[in-house]
Amino acid sequence: MTKKLDVNYHSAHQSPASGKDAVATLEIIMLKREDNELVTRVGPGTLMGDLFRRFWLPALLPNELPNPDCPPVRLRLLGEDLIAFRDSNDRIGILHEHCPHRRASLFYGRNEDCGLRCVYHGWKFDVDGNCVDQPSEPPETNFKHKVRQVSYPAREWGGFIWVYMGPTEEMPELPNLEWAMLPANQRWQAKWLYEANYAQGIEGELDSCHTGFLHDTSTPATDLTAGMAKASEYWAADKAPALTVAQTDYGYYYGSRRNYPGGQYYWRVTQWLLPCFAIIPMPTWPISCRAYVPVDDETTLVFNTSYNPEAPLTEADLKPLVSGLGPAPKLIPGTFSPALNARNSYGIDREVQRRRNFTGIEGINNQDRAIVESMGPICDRWNEHLGTSDVAIIAMRRRMLDAAKSLNAGSSPKAARDGSLYQVRPLDIIAPIADLQTLAATHSDRMRIAARSGKSVGPGDRDAEKPAEKQIQSLTN
Ligand code: FES
Ligand SMILES: [Fe+2]
Repeated sequence: MTKKLDVNYHSAHQSPASGKDAVATLEIIMLKREDNELVTRVGPGTLMGDLFRRFWLPALLPNELPNPDCPPVRLRLLGEDLIAFRDSNDRIGILHEHCPHRRASLFYGRNEDCGLRCVYHGWKFDVDGNCVDQPSEPPETNFKHKVRQVSYPAREWGGFIWVYMGPTEEMPELPNLEWAMLPANQRWQAKWLYEANYAQGIEGELDSCHTGFLHDTSTPATDLTAGMAKASEYWAADKAPALTVAQTDYGYYYGSRRNYPGGQYYWRVTQWLLPCFAIIPMPTWPISCRAYVPVDDETTLVFNTSYNPEAPLTEADLKPLVSGLGPAPKLIPGTFSPALNARNSYGIDREVQRRRNFTGIEGINNQDRAIVESMGPICDRWNEHLGTSDVAIIAMRRRMLDAAKSLNAGSSPKAARDGSLYQVRPLDIIAPIADLQTLAATHSDRMRIAARSGKSVGPGDRDAEKPAEKQIQSLTN
């Protein structure tokens, strides 16, 4: 489906050489309805569901299973209903919820003596899904050896409990994300529910442009992280950043380039890592990494880690993180549901909207969720009109589709096979450099990337120097 649209470009979109404004006609290519289905459906047997099942995914906070033999908890991931428990030996088990005997829920089971026992007829399963006791059958039938419960490997790593839901013989490495290897006092973590498809959540992270609008706010600086307060000054100054995407083995990084006084640029280079991680740059530590893990097609769990790789988090660092107004929302006590949500219109105050901030909604994450969830549980992307500010979003969709189709054709994603690829950092810098490749090559040590990784596409790219319509076409074709 194509549509013509005239777009008047801000001067920042011109290549450094051209230096003049221009009006270009964009051939906008929307995501086709069938591709939207492919990107968003994650249940068993779907293309995207298969791709997600090739990666370790955050699933729980360790304190949800605080000690051996504690009560089991319900968990739903990738459209599968699961039960997680911690056995007597401190091993984590993640099993399909329904007992293989007559399908009773194991949520009601007894967690005892290294296994979870179904309370209907007493069958008992260990963390690997073996049926280790079957008191309702005569021992001589040996029936218990013929029955297994579906189980998935789980690991405690970097402050989360992770699960791998793919084929056993393809089990990948855990992603060596920098924050996962830090002492606990150098990170702050949280989990909450997003009432929308995972792709909408991750697209919000890859949309540098929205910060100058949605988060154009007079939120007191005390409620923002120090980095966010600084960044908000910069992103308010140039509302039409030029975006450039550079593909890598783990996903991509993209740079948003804003004009800055003195012939310089304010660059924010975000890391996106397959299948659902984004690390957002800020001028100072701590910064935040988020994972958008699908519960099912219409609900997502967000796993946030705010971290400082150089020092323990201070009280001043923690204040905005726990305030509910920074990168994480306040939750309804005893749940992972944000207190401000669609049912209360995220607390929108029209008077505040008129006089004080752009949205009338308080808090960075509340603003993000309000807008992302407002698109509906699965956005009708075939009705979008994408512009140059959407280049990174288009690139993510394209890359996910390509990776899912390649997997379907027999080629597994390289990122899943090499956890060391995940050690990268984003970059937030004011520099006179106009193109992303030179910027990344100059600061490859800071970004922890190979000096010239990936092929880049975008207006801030010296090599590409393509008109904007070509960038979008090259990503959508
Ligand atoms: S249904 Fe679980 S033991 Fe019978
Ligand atoms: Fe945002």
